Amino acid sequence: MGNIIDGKALSLVVKDEVKAEVPVLEAQYGRKPCLVVIIVGENPASQVYVRNKVKAAAYTGMESRLIELPATITEEALLKQIEDLNNDPVVDGILVQLPLPKHIDEEKVIDTISKEKDVDGFHPGNVAGLWLGKKCIVPCTPAGIMRLIDSIGLELKGKNAVVVGRSNIVGKPIAKLLLDRHATVTIAHSRTADLGAVCRTADVLVVAVGKAKLVTGDMVKPGAVVIDVGMNRDEEGKLCGDVDFASAQPVASYITPVPGGVGPMTIAMLMKNTIECFKNHF
Ligand code: GUN
Repeated sequence: MGNIIDGKALSLVVKDEVKAEVPVLEAQYGRKPCLVVIIVGENPASQVYVRNKVKAAAYTGMESRLIELPATITEEALLKQIEDLNNDPVVDGILVQLPLPKHIDEEKVIDTISKEKDVDGFHPGNVAGLWLGKKCIVPCTPAGIMRLIDSIGLELKGKNAVVVGRSNIVGKPIAKLLLDRHATVTIAHSRTADLGAVCRTADVLVVAVGKAKLVTGDMVKPGAVVIDVGMNRDEEGKLCGDVDFASAQPVASYITPVPGGVGPMTIAMLMKNTIECFKNHF
């Protein structure tokens, strides 16, 4: 029976590391790190995420600001708001919650946030840094997954890792981070032939496709470590991941639950990234 990797508990450890660092940084630099979170429109899931991000920032003792903008805001006005924050010397991190309303070009928004304040690690300069092995801000969810994997003391060198999903936010960056640790990495996706057979080669299986319970126990190699990035609702409206936990847990050696696995780690790593951006400021 697979052990549960408790992301909620580990996220508290990470947030406490940040909480301990904030007063030290304040004493050294004369002010606290400051994160600004922008939400556009009223997507209920996004509202929960941003509230949790601001709550986490308050927990660590850093400064934070939530900017709530109407769904009708023009792209031009949003970009201007971002430019103003880029130029604000006491703002260290800027996060624009995705997705954005259809009339706003997400790529333009991501490109406008200055690379130095890009706490999400989505700016092309940070993406290039990740793939070229340079110092950069690493996206929060992949960074959180690596911390979860490290918490069980797993040696990745020579292991087969399969990533299901190829998004810029999770699939692609986590594949690179696993590669950096000398895993043999396969990226699978919606068009992969015989997804089950590919998944069964995985010693480490990371699933980030946004399809409820797509990966079932028969697709998991016995003893595999399973990381579930999904956040979906099942037929009964209950939160569930991309992995069918009930059938996968008996086969896996370790597995992350939903909720309480990857989600809280994403937010904890956002706090770490804000600290990184703050330090890069001086
Ligand atoms: N929407 C879903 N995940 C994320 C994330 O990590 N950052 C931002 N900005 N938006 C998201």
